[in-house]
Amino acid sequence: MRVYNFSAGPAVLPVEVLEQARDEMLDWRGTGMSVMEMSHRGKAFLSIAQQAEADLRELLSIPSNYKVLFLQGGATGQFAGIPMNLTTPDSVVDYINTGAWSKKAIGEAKRYAKVNVAADAGEPYTSIPPVSSWELTPNAAYVHYTPNETIGGVEFHFVPDVGNVPLVADMSSTILSRPIDVSKFGLIYAGAQKNIGPAGLTIVIVREDLIGRARPGTPAFMDYAAMAKDGSMLNTPPTYAWYIAGLVLQWLKRKGGVEAMGKINQAKAEKLYATIDASSFYRNPVAKDARSWMNVPFTLARPELDKTFIEEAKTAGLVTLEGHRAVGGMRASIYNAMPMEGVDALVSFMKEFERTHG
Ligand SMILES: Cc1ncc(COP(=O)(O)O)c(C=O)c1O
Repeated sequence: MRVYNFSAGPAVLPVEVLEQARDEMLDWRGTGMSVMEMSHRGKAFLSIAQQAEADLRELLSIPSNYKVLFLQGGATGQFAGIPMNLTTPDSVVDYINTGAWSKKAIGEAKRYAKVNVAADAGEPYTSIPPVSSWELTPNAAYVHYTPNETIGGVEFHFVPDVGNVPLVADMSSTILSRPIDVSKFGLIYAGAQKNIGPAGLTIVIVREDLIGRARPGTPAFMDYAAMAKDGSMLNTPPTYAWYIAGLVLQWLKRKGGVEAMGKINQAKAEKLYATIDASSFYRNPVAKDARSWMNVPFTLARPELDKTFIEEAKTAGLVTLEGHRAVGGMRASIYNAMPMEGVDALVSFMKEFERTHG
């Protein structure tokens, strides 16, 4: 039996995608083999790879002067990969700190460049400092921010204007959840394991003029120029993850793309926040204008009931609702593949739990 899985990542995938992967498992379209068993240089896999890139480009309207790279190493790999590719040791880079993931990105960047934390929301990270207060460096190599903080549930519902300095965004937990204007960014990166597909694949969308300046010592597999030149196949890519990502992108197109998905995601999030706000038993601490559509953390008025909540939710088929170990409480991640029915089931469960335990 399928459950409603509210995991923050790796996360729920569309059932249709899993079914298609199952059907194609032993014999991918007459090749007599699984995608897992194919050479990444063969015609069959190249067609899968190229289709996935074309679909991602179409879904996000990626301009032709951007490269799309299918890499490994996770978003964490890019925490280092970005300064390695975009800075010199003397560069100043601006970072906006709105939560745990921003902080990790900052920690890693400090090993490569001079980091200016241009704005810091400060713990417990429940809001976004107004852009007018950001202390940006005029000649920074880039400005980095985290449009959606997966742990704190803090999301930018706008793209900050940072002038001519390239804007770099960790979109791990928000990519493909709504339309974005890629041309406003110098670089977008995301671990696949939330809205794109399985873990193991990392997407980098990077403007061409930012490629080709990797620092000496950058490993070839992290060098955007080397990877772009070889179609992300300088070495063996994560072929199966790439294939599943391709199926997810096809699914997304059938669903109406990011425009349609954005509307559904907003409706799902609003329903959950409305339930939380209407109750004195549940609480979400995030400023209303910065509440995430993807990750909804909430606490119970009586934390001693946390365990019971998790247990009873599980019995009701609602799983992985534990908050991040750093924060506690609950967190419902409601990525693209979580249907409205899953949110409805969670909302009904929460109301019933409050009635019986509140
Ligand atoms: C916003 C954000 N950035 C970075 C990461 C780290 O990604 P990875 O585990 O792919 O390195 C995560 C993982 O959950 C995340 O949510």
